Amino acid sequence: MKFKLFAAFLLALFQVLAHAQHICPVIPQPSVSAEVPAFFVLNKGTAIVVDDESLLPAARYLQKQLLSQNKIPLAIQQKAKVASIRLSLSKKAGAESYQLEMNAQEIRISGAGNQAVFYGVVSLLQLTSSAKISPGSLLVKCWNIEDRPAYGWRGLMLDESRHFFGVEKVKSILNWMAFYKLNRFHWHLTDEPAWRIEIKNYPRLALAGGIGSYTNPYTPAQFYTQEQVTEIVQYAAERHIMVIPEIDMPGHATAANNAYPQFSGGGSEKHPEFTFHPGKEGTYTYLTDILREINALFPARMLHLGGDEVSFGNDKWLADPDVKSLMVRKQLKTVQEVEQYFMQRMADSVYAMNAKLLAWDEVADMNLPKKETIVFWWRHDKPQQLQTTLDKGYQTVLCPRIPFYFDFVQDSTHSLGRKWNKAYSGLKDVYDFKAAHLQGVNSSNQNQILGVQANVWTETIADNYRLDYMLYPRIAALAETAWSSNGKKNYTSFVQNLKQHFLLYNNERINYFNPFKK
Ligand code: ACM
Repeated sequence: MKFKLFAAFLLALFQVLAHAQHICPVIPQPSVSAEVPAFFVLNKGTAIVVDDESLLPAARYLQKQLLSQNKIPLAIQQKAKVASIRLSLSKKAGAESYQLEMNAQEIRISGAGNQAVFYGVVSLLQLTSSAKISPGSLLVKCWNIEDRPAYGWRGLMLDESRHFFGVEKVKSILNWMAFYKLNRFHWHLTDEPAWRIEIKNYPRLALAGGIGSYTNPYTPAQFYTQEQVTEIVQYAAERHIMVIPEIDMPGHATAANNAYPQFSGGGSEKHPEFTFHPGKEGTYTYLTDILREINALFPARMLHLGGDEVSFGNDKWLADPDVKSLMVRKQLKTVQEVEQYFMQRMADSVYAMNAKLLAWDEVADMNLPKKETIVFWWRHDKPQQLQTTLDKGYQTVLCPRIPFYFDFVQDSTHSLGRKWNKAYSGLKDVYDFKAAHLQGVNSSNQNQILGVQANVWTETIADNYRLDYMLYPRIAALAETAWSSNGKKNYTSFVQNLKQHFLLYNNERINYFNPFKK
């Protein structure tokens, strides 16, 4: 009787699925996918089998996620007599390319190494997240997938200077990034309102500089201790996410200057104490010492030094005797040349640490070593700056405000958040972004484009509730834009899959924006 019921249930399920559109229910959409007319019954009797010890981390991740996501505890076995999920090494090219093959008896995930297999595991976890539940088991629809990313840089930036979100929220974001195969977490840790990372040799940076936020100058100090930074970097690494710290300079330095005023280069009426002092030799020693600590904490060997919007607060430079003397000594004619001198000095410090210099697109006006420098094109209203960046041969990450600034509103009716005249960053705008449509991008410089990134600036995002609203579900569209080739993208199919993910957001109490509910 039980069996009959079960068979009837399966039959009904087949019929429902036969009428459904056959879209692989994975975001980002895989390169190649084919539905297999079978279900894999996943329950606590299923074994995870690892063919090579090096794949144990991917196996552990699968094990932990199946337990937390589906309450199914699996063991990792050497050999299995029962139905199994097998992780293997294959000679596939590409550190991130994987193959997922499924039938009723076995699920096999293979790739060139742990990261590749990890992405196969993530796709499987997405399939299990939408699986039908029968008592004690998951009925996972079988798919064969061959997959690889369009871009190697699939980034998300979080501004924690304007508002601080803390370890638990950052870990949650890293979890979702991993779920969507995003792999670069750019951490904007310093700016005007606050400095958010402990520096052992300059403790006031965090203790004094960490006080306040964009909306409340009196919030007690909030910052990451070096121990917490290490914990987050490790947590991200387990999810194949590289964490890149940003220490913004010479502008956006207000919080640091409040802590150590001797290195302030002044500011403007609107942006007081905005810059570091470019004319004092001590500034370079001070900042290099800070960067040495930062570099020791982050294994990425990439230091983002900002370099943006210096003109907001360099009014005092031309009147400063030390800056004047520097200009004479180094034959610098303009404030922009002083700014570039500063960036060159700091870039040299970064290169001397065997790290890459990352910066916003202002630095494209300089001539820095191409292999050691990555430029972030953000000024969507200045396409010529992207042209310059690419013409000069820089490696480039695309994060134009529209559509990749997630502090911009995502619907014409929304009023809290930014707009550019009437333009904003809707879900579909994020989804439809195509690098090939940009001025300056041609077939000869496509390979300089490392990828895309969304930036969550937080002037108008004061708490987790609003952070969720601005990040979800645009993070899913970002992921598909970053991972899936243009030929595989289809907005209607994406939306169909995304609506299933809303259920997952609900389960985790993510306060997402639902653009389909009018
Ligand atoms: C920026 O938005 N100032 C990089």
